[in-house]
Amino acid sequence: MTARAPFAFDPEGASAIVAGENLTVLETLPDESFTLIYLDPPFNTGRDQVRRTTRAVHAANGEGDRVGFAGRSYETVLGTLRSYGDSFADYLGFLEPRLLHAHRLLAQDGTLYVHLDYREVHYVKILLDAIFGRACFLNEIVWAYDFGARSLKRWPAKHDTILVYVKDPSAYHFDSTAVDREPYMAPGLVGPAKAARGKLPTDVWWHTIVSPTGKEKTGYPTQKPAGVLRRIVTASSRPGDWVLDFFAGSGTTGAVSAELGRRFVCVDRNPEAVDVMHRRLPDTPVYRAP
Ligand SMILES: C[S@@+](CC[C@H](N)C(=O)[O-])C[C@H]1O[C@@H](n2cnc3c(N)ncnc32)[C@H](O)[C@@H]1O
Repeated sequence: MTARAPFAFDPEGASAIVAGENLTVLETLPDESFTLIYLDPPFNTGRDQVRRTTRAVHAANGEGDRVGFAGRSYETVLGTLRSYGDSFADYLGFLEPRLLHAHRLLAQDGTLYVHLDYREVHYVKILLDAIFGRACFLNEIVWAYDFGARSLKRWPAKHDTILVYVKDPSAYHFDSTAVDREPYMAPGLVGPAKAARGKLPTDVWWHTIVSPTGKEKTGYPTQKPAGVLRRIVTASSRPGDWVLDFFAGSGTTGAVSAELGRRFVCVDRNPEAVDVMHRRLPDTPVYRAP
């Protein structure tokens, strides 16, 4: 798939797939343009990432403009994170400028979902607390699945964690009435009407992985289930709103957003991902990063 023109975001325009390095795309996007940002970043950031030694100074006058973890300044928190050893310093150095953009790009009623696993979640939580402020932390969603080998030497790890932050805790959009409901674990205890209606999901979501033989499978190795994204997009955006995923992979966020009448920008630098997205969303134009 050869990308067409360089991408230029038009808030009045239509959805787009963008092929290229996400940081160069993020730099061109206007503030507060997106109601929902979903990110599923790779843990392995690759050796082609240049380790950052300088960054945007958010505590220029020695005070820090966001008081994060335990009241310590943004700079202090990030300094501590960086001392954790090389792989995390690299990982956080890769994520930090992108998460700063995510914060800038969220509308006042916007929400960020960051999909991680047990290896990174604690470090990224502290980084996000520093960027957003702890008051903007909304949820830690546990997506539990049951597939694959089971270690006999420890508890088999069968969940991912999705951290949820809002731009403004007094103004964010969240429509719990619109999301799919779940069966009660003990329907006999709640009566037939309630049992038939099901219950509101909690912060623990049981959902199968994308079946290796099912219709949903695109062949992209890290594809996430549409069912998980459907719940996120339904709760945290409205029809017509803009949704952004700049680690888009197979384009699950775009596919679900299109199905639910949201507009989206999906960015990925891997040509295979762009091919899969194009097959999945044939009506969405593909641009290259500016
Ligand atoms: C874990 S996958 C996302 C999978 C996706 N959620 C799905 O359902 O298919 C992460 C993606 O981020 C992309 N990626 C990693 N670093 C990137 C960068 N700097 N710019 C753009 N894309 C990047 C990778 O190519 C990969 O497709």
